[in-house]
Amino acid sequence: MKIIREPHEMQQTALTLRDKAIRIGLVPTMGAFHDGHVSLMRRAKHENDVCVVSLFVNPLQFNDPADLERYPRNEAADLEIARSVGVDILFMPSVAAMYPPDAQTFVEVTRVSQPLCGGNRPGHFRGVATVVAKLLMITLPRRVYFGLKDYQQCRVVAQMARDLYFPPDLVFCPTVREADGLAMSSRNVRLSPEERRAASILPRALELAQAQFAAGETNPAAIQARVRDCLLSEPLASIEYVEVVDAQTLEPIADIVQPALVAIAARLGDTRLIDSVVLTPP
Ligand code: PAJ
Repeated sequence: MKIIREPHEMQQTALTLRDKAIRIGLVPTMGAFHDGHVSLMRRAKHENDVCVVSLFVNPLQFNDPADLERYPRNEAADLEIARSVGVDILFMPSVAAMYPPDAQTFVEVTRVSQPLCGGNRPGHFRGVATVVAKLLMITLPRRVYFGLKDYQQCRVVAQMARDLYFPPDLVFCPTVREADGLAMSSRNVRLSPEERRAASILPRALELAQAQFAAGETNPAAIQARVRDCLLSEPLASIEYVEVVDAQTLEPIADIVQPALVAIAARLGDTRLIDSVVLTPP
């Protein structure tokens, strides 16, 4: 596995590969790898000639400096995991290289960035869109892989790619979960044992929503209320939001007649967790 830290070197390598018609699959990450990341890496490796993983804890997408400070970092373990999966190139740029002091260009996706996490994390999706745009221009992939665990991130990136005519195919991959249903996340390591146990309330609440929908409920407010009640039954969890919205636009809906997203953000102690599920009418 080759480790590249300099954006220009990475871009030169990508250009050389492209000249030889070698297809790159890119997996953008912020490290602290778990099986969710690994599933994207394996898929990128399988579907392309060369698998590039970027590892960059992007300061621009952290609206809370304390969250950036606390973000789990484990370079030695990450290198080991990436190697064992067969990643070809690990791109690990510095903050100074990605954001030189004279940088003046940022990418802002408007409407779809605003609801859900956009409301609670001002500037977050501007940071995500900007770094993903840069990573795509640096690594020139044929395909780029994202996890549906961060559903709104997928929608923001899809809108940006469409609006700016970005060439790579975007591949959105299913959420990988722990045995009790909790969506894998780099942040899960910050949960205390009690919080970790309590965190399974998120997937359980989403299962309730799915069951209710399967039983014929199509009223978003009714599903939202049931999910909310379920989360309230866990004293260690505090709700940031529970929303049932159009799965494409993330805008409010009156009835579920098209795919709808049930999205949760909740805090367990200091740790903010998100999860979601799409309800698709038959
Ligand atoms: P990070 O949280 O490291 O996630 C990297 C990729 O892994 C994202 O596409 C995310 O959706 C996916 N992922 C995380 N948990 C997953 C799970 N349990 N199952 C499947 N996929 C999962 O998301 C980011 O980094 C950043 O915002 C980034 C896109 C790299 C931009 O900085």
